[in-house]
Amino acid sequence: MLKKIQETTKYINGKIDSTPEFGIVLGTGLGGLVNEIQISATIAYNDIPNFPVSTVKGHEGKLIFGMLGGKNVVAMQGRFHFYEGYSMQDLTFPIRVLKQLGIKLLIQSNAAGGVNPDYEIGDLMVIKDHINLMGDNPLIGKNDSGLGPRFPDMSETYDKKIIRQFTKLARVHNIHFQVGVYAAVTGPTFETPAEYKYISILGADAVGMSTVPEAIVARHMSLPVFAVSVISDLGVEGKIVEISHDDVIDAASMVEPKMTLVIREMIEKLNIRD
Ligand code: HPA
Repeated sequence: MLKKIQETTKYINGKIDSTPEFGIVLGTGLGGLVNEIQISATIAYNDIPNFPVSTVKGHEGKLIFGMLGGKNVVAMQGRFHFYEGYSMQDLTFPIRVLKQLGIKLLIQSNAAGGVNPDYEIGDLMVIKDHINLMGDNPLIGKNDSGLGPRFPDMSETYDKKIIRQFTKLARVHNIHFQVGVYAAVTGPTFETPAEYKYISILGADAVGMSTVPEAIVARHMSLPVFAVSVISDLGVEGKIVEISHDDVIDAASMVEPKMTLVIREMIEKLNIRD
């Protein structure tokens, strides 16, 4: 694995001329952030050795390098999902490469169904913790101690300092947000009402089909993680309606300007250099 990561990193380093400090996974709700990046290089996933290829509508596959808020960033335009059929190891491979390229923080966004009865469609939810209900883990298999420990600590998966920074900025801009627990499921089916209830009883506030494998792999490598969900639908008794992927994308794009603003400012103000 380490050899593959190094091979891919070498290929990418040959195409860029600065070290990215922030890695951003442009999930649903953060796609517009790409318009704010002063782009210096774009590399299609298809051209990157060892990278998987994205298949989902609304998730184009490119690595984008450039400046955002005065900092060097790399953005993944398009992420890989377990439900597409990739192994956990394959879908998290790009995160390993971003770390090797030099990022100091991984920022992720996603769309999620709210199971907390206090949530509304269009809410932002900062992820403070997660529950992995995917029935798999990207670290299963032989551990490469050059990457991280066999049994990684998960007591603070989502960096508290970064959450505080987000909180401050969101307040300055009068942006309302929730802080909650994200449960990750495989999909691709949305939940039945009984499953939404089960997920809520387990202690989650929202449910979605991404983010957690990437967060696990990042923590394996001691890379800090920050993640935000856009609540795109509600899995709350009495509020459950038929939904489609387009509904999820529509709800998320309504909130995108708010999300984009805070993330850009956060990057501008954060000082995470060693
Ligand atoms: N469930 C699972 N994943 C999701 C949902 C949901 O309700 N909404 C957006 N992604």
